Amino acid sequence: MLKIVNCKNEAGVGAVAANEIAEVIRNKLDAVIGLATGSSPLTTYAELINKYKNGEISFEKVTSINLDEYAGLSADHEQSYSHFMHKNLFNHVNINEKNVNIPNGLASDYEAECKRYDAVIKEAGGVDVQLLGIGQNGHIGFNEPSDHFPVGTSLVELTDSTIDANSRFFTSRDLVPTMAISMGIGDIMAAKKIVMVVIGKEKAEIMESAFFGRVTPAVPASILQFFKGDMMVCADEEALSLIKKKHPEAVYKI
Ligand code: F6R
Repeated sequence: MLKIVNCKNEAGVGAVAANEIAEVIRNKLDAVIGLATGSSPLTTYAELINKYKNGEISFEKVTSINLDEYAGLSADHEQSYSHFMHKNLFNHVNINEKNVNIPNGLASDYEAECKRYDAVIKEAGGVDVQLLGIGQNGHIGFNEPSDHFPVGTSLVELTDSTIDANSRFFTSRDLVPTMAISMGIGDIMAAKKIVMVVIGKEKAEIMESAFFGRVTPAVPASILQFFKGDMMVCADEEALSLIKKKHPEAVYKI
């Protein structure tokens, strides 16, 4: 069931999303958590760190599987998603490094790396809770708008709009990698539960078309309308502004 929750602001988004993820971890100590990078999950990670420090949850037996990584960046590159995850979550909790999974951006054979990553997901027994953001163009993971929904992990070419959006993290647009390795839409749809975090007015339009428009690979996140498990969209007022106008009945308050 899809539940769109008005979490008011960025802090609210983090609090609600972290509660959802923490509940999964409390109920299953060796949970497999699918993780995302970007700006939207930052408050969620800060809340998860708080919950760990307060003794509410432990990551000791948790396995993490990240959605994506830039192709061509080493794990210790400042803008790699591996670096992001260690800086914003892993270095502050008791996760076991051997249970951390992120695609290898420097793999010599990307096709083999994609196959390896799908095998990692399978061996882990699938993802118990998948944290997602959404791109302004409707991408989830780095599954960009296209004419099909990629099933498994693949090497993707980033669109200009994604490169533009992500250039804020680099000193120059030319330095933004143009390719990435991303878990597929099929991998994401196979998760048992999804928690999406969405912040800011730039996301208002895509949110409405993703959840209330046609299901089409031109808007990859629209496939989530077919998600069978529990899905919670934790969004701030601005990201929900259009949905609140057009479909007020669909929005829950906290
Ligand atoms: C990141 C990812 C992307 C982001 C999306 C939104 O691992 O998979 O799909 O979730 O680009 O990014 P932000 O949160 O920076 O707006």
